[in-house]
Amino acid sequence: MSMNAMTASNLRSAYGGESQAHMRYRIWGAHAEKEGFPNVKRLFMATSDAEEVHATLHFKALKEESGDFDVTSGSGFGLNSTSENLQGAINGEVFEYTQMYPAYIAVAEMQEEKTAVSAMRFAIEAEKVHAERFTQAKEAVDNGKDLDTELVLLCPVCGYISLTGEEDNCPICKAKREKFIDY
Ligand SMILES: [Fe+2]
Ligand SMILES: [Fe+2]
Repeated sequence: MSMNAMTASNLRSAYGGESQAHMRYRIWGAHAEKEGFPNVKRLFMATSDAEEVHATLHFKALKEESGDFDVTSGSGFGLNSTSENLQGAINGEVFEYTQMYPAYIAVAEMQEEKTAVSAMRFAIEAEKVHAERFTQAKEAVDNGKDLDTELVLLCPVCGYISLTGEEDNCPICKAKREKFIDY
């Protein structure tokens, strides 16, 4: 059974946005390392892979919707100071969890597209955490310091990021702590 057109279109857009965030964070991560913030680089790389997790969930939710499409999605640009790049990252994450995903999830729920709803619920919850972690990193960088952390952990199931590793299970998807990947 094919997916409702509006949800399919929204998912393709979300896939585009996540894919571009994945690349952008790699670029900004390499730049953070050059500027002397290796832990900010680790955070960018872990979050880059979190966005790959989301893009993959969306792609798989669209597995029966084959074909070529023009994909329009929001995407931040600019290679500035690490503080400014972090602000750009925060802005993108906030847009996703306050505007894009709430609207897309509402449509998908109305259209009873369960796979799309669950893919986007993982993403929206993870984006809230990403914004918090990037905010913490920006505060450090604005004080001339690197992000103060030993661990930068990614839940490879949903894209949650932990800087402590104190969770027994992922608070979003319940995956076991042992599954988390350190960067
Ligand atoms: Fe994110
Ligand atoms: Fe998770």
